[in-house]
Amino acid sequence: MTDITSQTKAALAAIAAATSLDALEAERLETLGKKGWVSLALKTLGGMSPEERTAAAPAIQSARASIADALDAKKGALEAAALEEQLARETVDLTLPAVAAPKGSVHPVSQVMDELAEIFADLGFAVATGPEIEDDWHNFTALNMDETHPARAMHDTFYFPDKTGEGREILLRTHTSPVQIRSMLAQGAPIRIIAPGRVYRSDSDATHTPMFHQVEGLVIDKDIHLGHLKWTLETFFKAFFEREDITLRLRPSYFPFTEPSVEVDVGYSTEGGRRVVGGHGDAPGHAWMELGGSGMVNARVLEFAGLDPAEWQGFAFGLGIDRIAMLKYGMNDLRAFFDGDPRWLAHYGFSPFDQPTLSAGVGAKA
Ligand code: DAH
Repeated sequence: MTDITSQTKAALAAIAAATSLDALEAERLETLGKKGWVSLALKTLGGMSPEERTAAAPAIQSARASIADALDAKKGALEAAALEEQLARETVDLTLPAVAAPKGSVHPVSQVMDELAEIFADLGFAVATGPEIEDDWHNFTALNMDETHPARAMHDTFYFPDKTGEGREILLRTHTSPVQIRSMLAQGAPIRIIAPGRVYRSDSDATHTPMFHQVEGLVIDKDIHLGHLKWTLETFFKAFFEREDITLRLRPSYFPFTEPSVEVDVGYSTEGGRRVVGGHGDAPGHAWMELGGSGMVNARVLEFAGLDPAEWQGFAFGLGIDRIAMLKYGMNDLRAFFDGDPRWLAHYGFSPFDQPTLSAGVGAKA
């Protein structure tokens, strides 16, 4: 009995003195562990007569209980102290400036999309979106390209194996033009939207990637004519390239969804091996470069989109975003756009704090 009392006293003292969780665990093994003296003492109860057991059990049980309580309390105290110590060690000073931390940058394509939205918002255009996984009705048929139209084959389309519930082919949209159809069907006329986004074609070399970016424009209203189209694009390019001497040439062309159709060329010169937009393409040292397609929306397209061509007219255009980004910011390899190389991004990317605004300029450099 005295033995247990003094052993318990010693154990409680050792627990109180433990300065680490390891030391505490060693003490637990020595007392309550399988081979610890408390456990062995409890086992001896089995071999005793009932009278002996009644006499010996309370002391052993109370030793076990007081040691278990002391271990628990000490464990809690040591863990709390360890947490305190860790919290003190790992403080972060939130008042320090963030410049020392590694920072991300805005991809030129995202930057140019923000610039487009800002400039066209000022001209009264809303930003519209449509699905990248399209059906062939929106991507082709409603744009006046039926199943047998040769332009379908020219689009190098990625098709999915399945069809929609209505039996339409499912594909990755090959251009942003289906957003014209979706917008007209959803909101009717009048309408003034741009639709920037990803498009896909099975094509890949230094100037083509299987995924690239376009921006679609659509204006539907009454008495709209080609003059509105030319003014709108000219005003946009002046704001985008931040120069007044932008000269556009509309060259007759063909697209199934516009009639008449024109290709939009811009005058440029070459300075230090780099193309610089500006000036008249026929002026000395200048030439014309194609920037996109456009035209008056074909009456058939208006009908597919549920509008009466006798009442409504409009123009549409499509521009390659990657192309105009390369021109504006002097990048020459399209593939680098989509490599995700942090060195390229550090060089050509933009500060997230440089939001394009009309008042501060849409072309702020990183
Ligand atoms: N969707 C055409 C393409 O990807 C580009 C285009 C041309 C869009 C003329 C238009 C347009 O809206 O009017 O090749």
